Amino acid sequence: MAIILGIESSCDDTSASICKDGKIKSNIIANQEVHAKFGGVVPELASRAHQQNIIPVVDTAIKEADIDKNDISAVAFTKGPGLLGSLLVGVSFAKSFALARQIPLIEINHMQAHILAHFIDEPKPRFPFICLTVSGGHTQIVLVKDYFHMEILGQTLDDAAGEAFDKSAKILGLPYPGGPLIDKYAQKGNPNAFSFPEPRIKELDFSFSGLKTAILYRIQDEVKKDPDFIPNHLHDLCASIQHRIVTILLNKLQKAVLKYQIKDVAVAGGVSANSGLREALLELGEERSWKVFIPKFEYCTDNAAMIAMAGYYKFLKKDFVSQQVSPLARMPIV
Ligand code: KG4
Ligand code: ZN
Repeated sequence: MAIILGIESSCDDTSASICKDGKIKSNIIANQEVHAKFGGVVPELASRAHQQNIIPVVDTAIKEADIDKNDISAVAFTKGPGLLGSLLVGVSFAKSFALARQIPLIEINHMQAHILAHFIDEPKPRFPFICLTVSGGHTQIVLVKDYFHMEILGQTLDDAAGEAFDKSAKILGLPYPGGPLIDKYAQKGNPNAFSFPEPRIKELDFSFSGLKTAILYRIQDEVKKDPDFIPNHLHDLCASIQHRIVTILLNKLQKAVLKYQIKDVAVAGGVSANSGLREALLELGEERSWKVFIPKFEYCTDNAAMIAMAGYYKFLKKDFVSQQVSPLARMPIV
């Protein structure tokens, strides 16, 4: 029997999960509301909140999984990438737990874990597959050759897709994180009401900073003419912004599929919760005969189930680390 405790604390969500013999038994997430009024994650406040949340979150994950703490075989934790002060709380907790119980420690790359979230439920993708990984800090097209053998085919040169959503939302006066709000308002809007530019970036790389500037200038111009422009057009603005971000992502994904001739295509990371992206990807997949994999909502944004799942595969390989391990703010996916 293999029972893995997974710990995730890379940004502003504290999460713990139990994976028993490859099946997720619990996935507890404490969100931090404290950042909303600041328009972004405040690192100092995030690490303090992790410190307060980590023990109750782990306790609840163990109780909900209905297992005995003494039966936990190993602790898997997010080593990076992420905010150092946030990561330190999870890493220190994991080390202490492993030391006290004399069980192995397993380090996990957060971005690999987002991709491995696809192995939580059926149907699971088969290797090799292409994964569009879109979160608050990353936008990458990844060739997934094996559980821990991945190659970046293209990535953003500036902002991540999640940042493009959040920064656009900020321009519209919406609180952080604005991505889910843009998604919500977009549902009642016309995606063709406003036209925003698609950047010309070569190969499989992305850029979102020009889009953000174009949105800012357009809105500033319109607000000069009509101070109520944003509230009067909120739904159409959100739908048009979302439409442009989604088409930028999917156009590059199509290019990758054509170049590598791999038709098993997955999406991962917080932005994969976006309903416009999910719908458009399913449609495109149907049209192009791709096999499309989209995670359940709870496994899109940051969660420890993906860490516990990735930990399970490393546990099978006995891929453990020593107590000397420390977190990394930057950590490549390979
Ligand atoms: O993967 P994640 O939870 O954290 C990071 O590792 O960054 O991704 C968070 C990002 C945020 O930018 C958030 O606005 C975005 O995912 N996001 C969404 C949606 N849900 C989360 N963006 C657009 N539509 C959504 N429904
Ligand atoms: Zn993430």
